[in-house]
Amino acid sequence: MRLRAGRVTGAKAGSGSALLESGHLPRQIVLERAQSRDLAALCQLLKLASLPDEDVTEERLQHFLIGRLDTRLIGVIGLEPYQDVALLRSLAVAREHSGVGFGKHLVAAAEKLAAEMKITSIYLLTTTADRFFERLGFRRLQRDLAPLAIKSSHQFASLCPTSAVLMVKP
Ligand SMILES: CC(C)(COP(=O)(O)OP(=O)(O)OC[C@H]1O[C@@H](n2cnc3c(N)ncnc32)[C@H](O)[C@@H]1OP(=O)(O)O)[C@@H](O)C(=O)NCCC(=O)NCCS
Repeated sequence: MRLRAGRVTGAKAGSGSALLESGHLPRQIVLERAQSRDLAALCQLLKLASLPDEDVTEERLQHFLIGRLDTRLIGVIGLEPYQDVALLRSLAVAREHSGVGFGKHLVAAAEKLAAEMKITSIYLLTTTADRFFERLGFRRLQRDLAPLAIKSSHQFASLCPTSAVLMVKP
């Protein structure tokens, strides 16, 4: 999968074909970098998933990936880089497309993007999906052990409830 190349269809995912191993994903799904014009639909998807969207800005979108089926935005994931670490955030899959492996696919794509950005550790906060992320190799970490940059992020400092679980990989 070559994110830099722009649009990449599931059918032509090439080296990213392992991301589609479930075989249940519609082949027409296009995974691409989010652009300014996606902001409204992307925020709508986050709202529907009960995830915060108030700090998603056009500038931040440069590290967001979206999945499209036809013209519809059906999935999103974002990275918030801080030097060599990043916060993985805003993972949402439209309800009618959940359960077929697209969430996993988005996480793998974000990890690939993080590797390209020389990110060494990925952190995330979740209230609902810790088991999901555990299966993808993330482990729980005490919140006070997060790097300062992650602690200072808007998500960590104010948007995510203090009950949210902090996880990291590797
Ligand atoms: C969490 C979410 C992104 C998963 O997307 P998805 O496309 O349905 O997930 P997948 O189909 O890739 O699921 C992969 C596996 O994880 C499991 N899974 C999905 N959501 C899960 C959850 N919240 N907790 C535990 N396991 C979960 C699936 O059952 C599936 O299991 P299987 O491989 O045994 O079949 C989606 O449910 C969603 O948008 N939730 C609301 C927003 C949210 O909670 N985001 C994460 C916090 S940042």
